[in-house]
This record gives sequence, C-alpha cells and structure tokens, in this order.
Amino acid sequence: MKRSASMMKCDREGRLLQRQLRAGLRLPPPRRCFASSYLPPHDSQKRSSSHRVIFSGIQPTGTPHIGNYLGALQPWKKLHDEADANTSLIFCIVDLHAITTQHDAAILRVRKREMLAALLAIGLDPSRCTLFYQSSVPAHSELQWILSCQASTGYLSRMTQWKTKLRGNSTSGPDPSMATDRLKHGLFSYPILQAADVLVHRATHVPVGEDQRQHLEFARECVTNFHAAYSGNIFPYPETLVSPARRIMSLRNSVQKMSKSAESAKSRIELTDDAKTVRERIAAALTDDRGGVTWEPEARPGVTNLLEILAAFCGAPEVSARELAEGEMKGVSMRELKERVAEKVSEGLGGIQERYREVRKRGDGYLDEVAEEGRIKAARSAEETMRLVKEAVGLGL
Ligand code: TYM
Repeated sequence: MKRSASMMKCDREGRLLQRQLRAGLRLPPPRRCFASSYLPPHDSQKRSSSHRVIFSGIQPTGTPHIGNYLGALQPWKKLHDEADANTSLIFCIVDLHAITTQHDAAILRVRKREMLAALLAIGLDPSRCTLFYQSSVPAHSELQWILSCQASTGYLSRMTQWKTKLRGNSTSGPDPSMATDRLKHGLFSYPILQAADVLVHRATHVPVGEDQRQHLEFARECVTNFHAAYSGNIFPYPETLVSPARRIMSLRNSVQKMSKSAESAKSRIELTDDAKTVRERIAAALTDDRGGVTWEPEARPGVTNLLEILAAFCGAPEVSARELAEGEMKGVSMRELKERVAEKVSEGLGGIQERYREVRKRGDGYLDEVAEEGRIKAARSAEETMRLVKEAVGLGL
C-alpha cells in the first residue's frame, strides 16, 4: 500500500519518540535560533542551554478518552517517570481554549476539577511536575496579545482547524458569505494562545497527538516572527514529540479521530468507563465485513484502529500494531480481536480508575490546593520570560 510523505514523516517522528523514550529520555538538545541577524542570547537569560522544558496542555471539555490518553497523557506520564531531574515538566489544563466554543460556566468549573483529578489519577505527581489552570497565569494571555501583533492573518486563515469550521459553517446557512460572521475571533486566534502557552515557559519539547502538529508549526513561526521583529534570542524553537499512538480514531467512524465532543458516546472510551462499557463499546466498534486480522491500514481502518489501541495498551512502543497483526493476532477473528482489545483496555484503565476515585474522595479542597501550588510554580516560570519579552518589545521601563 502506498503511504503518503506525511504519514512516513509521522512514522519517523513516532519512531524517534519511541527511541527517546526507550533511551531514558536522552532528548536532543533544544534548537535555538542563532541566525546572524539575531543578537546572541540575552545576557540576563538565565537558563542553561541543556535545560529542557516539557510543556503540554489539554482542554477541560469532558472526561479524557483513550485517544487523549494514548496520544498525550500516557507519553506525559512516561516523560514524568523517565526524564532527568534537570528537565522541567509543565502540564496545563487549558480552560481559556475551552471557552472558544459554547459552554456552560458551571459545567466548565466541574470539568476543570475532573481533568485535574484525571491527571493525578494517571500518576502525575504535583511535586515532580507543574499542574495548573491556564487562566490562573495571566502571562499566557498577555503573551498571546504580544505574539498576535506579529502573527499573519493569512497563515491563521490557512490552518486546518479554522478551514474546517469555516466549511462547516458555510453549508449551514443560506448565504455562504456570512460564514465568517458566525465564527468567533477566539477560534481564529486559538493557535496564537497555544503558541503563547508553549513559549511563555520557553518550552523545548511538546508531547502531543498528531492533530496538534500544525499548531506547533505555528508556534515555531511565532518564534521566527518575534526574533525577526525584536532583539534578543528569547525563545527556543519548541520541538513536537508525536506519540507512537498518534491518532486514535472514533469507534463509530474510522476516518474521524476519537473526540471528547463527538455526539455519540459510543464513539469513544473514557478513562472512567467500567469494564462492561468498554466491552460493549469495543464489541460495537465498526470494522468491515471481512473476517480475520490482516495489516492493511488504508483498506481496513477500523481493524487497524483496534490493533493500534491493542498495541498501545500492550506496551507500545516495544510492540507495534503491525507486529501484532502479522504475528500473534494474524488471522484471528474479529470477535477474538475485540475481546482481546477490551480485556487489555480494561486492564490498562483499572489502576487509573481506582486512583481517580481516591483523588475524588479527597474532595475539591485538595484539588484546589494542587492547582494553587501549580499556579505559583507556573507563574514563576512565566515571569522571567515576560520580563525578557517586555524588555525586547519596549514595554518594560
Ligand atoms: P485536546 O484537549 O483536544 O487534546 C489533548 C491531547 O490529546 C491528543 N489527542 C489525541 N491523540 C490521539 N488520538 C486522538 N483521537 C486524540 N484526541 C486528542 C491531542 O493531540 C492533545 O495532545 N489545542 C490543544 C490543547 C493545547 C495545547 C497547548 C497542547 C492548548 N495549548 C500547548 C500542547 C501545547 C487541544 O485542543 O488538545
């Protein structure tokens, strides 16, 4: 089967992350911009060039599903466990991004705490990493404004997420020219806030699922624009670390990614789903009318998705979906494949659910303390960057 250049690039990056994770996270040194037109690093830039900052974020728009888990949270936990002590780990619940779509204020408050509890339940330790709500550190939105003054509207309007929304809207009304009127500016400038999230902590590496790749390319574009406009060499170019399970697909439609906001709950498995629900969802997952497992990613996306999920819960990157399909799962019936997937998923989620219940039992007060501790650490991390940024831009007196 012919594979596209971008798929092969994904594979290469997936393998790179796998090697990095296997090698106990000897991550490559962060790339910095040393073009001759830029001044050398700012004298007062205190960070040593070997200091690594890993940053990532998740929206509190619902219970995380196994796509979020395999694409982001599991790699975060691996980094958390294996990165050396000189590596900072910052994980953010991006509540400002969550208000770019219609939402209910009371539900958002509940979901923020649920997401924090989920991050603790997957094993992130607040004494090793920083866990915080984006809106609690105003430097994120302050830097967003500064970056927006250099951001190209042309670039933003070509971004996939925006174009998808635009397409969705233009078919829903009688006058296609009204499409942009109905869309909100927050959605258009969403990537600038995401760039600010990463850059305000001068992150060197960003572990995400594949759908975030374009947003991080944009963040690197913001670094280039900023360094071209102002003196100083403040920001490293953040590197995207795409998880080996780069895109887990919907169980009801294997050309759409699994999503928190998809209408049908049957399209996903949430981290808090019990074994019975997991079994039912996997049993109902759409595959095709052929029997017997084979490795044909393009012709059999539903089967491939189940194999990817199985591999991830069996301990990928050591075990790949293809190896499973061509080895121990070769030719097994769909029923057997689904039973195996359900068993491994439930096994993998069991410990997380137990810890989730324990965390929730400690009450909202405990979660708020963790968030406050995270806010203090994140604000400190952002403070030095903002001092350098304001000095470069001419805002600091
Ligand atoms: P969000 O909340 O949609 O998703 C959080 C993380 O989960 C990954 N992910 C998936 N991975 C594999 N398969 C899937 N079906 C799947 N669905 C989601 C996402 O790639 C992501 O890593 N814009 C971001 C949040 C964000 C952010 C940031 C991320 C805001 N600022 C700065 C990194 C750095 C988002 O909406 O993620």
